[in-house]
Amino acid sequence: MKTIAFFDAKPYDRQSFSMVEDEDINIRYFENKLNADTVSMAACCDGVCAFVNDNVDKNVINKLYEYGVGVVAMRCAGYNNVDIKAANGKVKILRVPAYSPYAIAEHTMGMILTLNRKLHKAYIRTRDHNFSLDGLCGFDLHKKTVGIVGTGKIGCAFSEICNGFGMKVLGYDPYENSEFKGEYCDFDRLLTQSDIVSLHCPLTKDNHNLINRETVNKMKKGVYIINTSRGQLIDTEAIIEGIKSGQIGAAGLDVYEEETTLFFEDKSDDIIYDDKFLTLISMPNVLVTSHQAFLTREALYGIAETTMQNFKAYFNDEELKNEVVAK
Ligand code: NAI
Repeated sequence: MKTIAFFDAKPYDRQSFSMVEDEDINIRYFENKLNADTVSMAACCDGVCAFVNDNVDKNVINKLYEYGVGVVAMRCAGYNNVDIKAANGKVKILRVPAYSPYAIAEHTMGMILTLNRKLHKAYIRTRDHNFSLDGLCGFDLHKKTVGIVGTGKIGCAFSEICNGFGMKVLGYDPYENSEFKGEYCDFDRLLTQSDIVSLHCPLTKDNHNLINRETVNKMKKGVYIINTSRGQLIDTEAIIEGIKSGQIGAAGLDVYEEETTLFFEDKSDDIIYDDKFLTLISMPNVLVTSHQAFLTREALYGIAETTMQNFKAYFNDEELKNEVVAK
């Protein structure tokens, strides 16, 4: 019997992993996030299961190696929170490269529709018996231009949705994808011609703050910026300035650069000390969701299924199809 230390466990994780139970694998669920202070909880375990806001840095990797834990299976696609180089030769890093790109693509369109048609305001108004339409005017998405940065699985799924709305679709990606339903162009053209810019690329060491003062100023006045990818792709201060000046018409953010201490937790009784975040959520044309784009039944089941297959492949010395290796 192998034992897995499952960090940052939420009720929906327990539910989806209970659907893919394996008689040879025992999962120990911990609500704590994985970091240098909590890694000792994995001592005596054979593997670790971690998520987007766990901190799998060099210290954590070295501790896991010391404990004889040979595998970390990320139950997500991104792995920017893992020190892949430090793991090389010590701990195998596995991930779930694809589950439901539709979950994230559909949430992206949901954010656009909410912001554009002011559904977040209308919901509150009608509950308060305020049936006025003042201030709720949006625009047709039909024939507007959407710029998709990163045309992998999610970017392609999103391009299909945008086509369904009759939008003109531009895409920027260093590697073209035949599944992409739109016109490829360079990054500058995407910035200058798009009414909506949506980020769907991974966070890498080269694209930190890809959206910054300079890139915001190249965009169309009143542009919508949507980020369902990773918070650090955006310089939050540049977004706040852009919203204040009217250069940015609206921002839909499912991720935030400092989300680790906030997202996925109930902080409703706490004081939040992050002033940038407080400014963002106070703005009527900013919609923040707490990294929930992946949260559909289909995606959760897909994540659980692939994660368990990853563990089984590792424990049975089979080929590791979903291993992440240092470049
Ligand atoms: P993917 O690997 O299929 O596609 C990513 C694409 O981005 C690739 O085509 C790559 O060439 C491109 N790319 C890399 N750097 C780029 C850059 N600087 N500019 C433009 N394109 C670039 O990944 P997938 O599955 O489409 O996921 C994309 C990202 O979405 C993930 O890396 C993750 O950060 C985020 N994500 C967010 C979720 C959420 O719940 N909010 C859930 C799942 C993923």
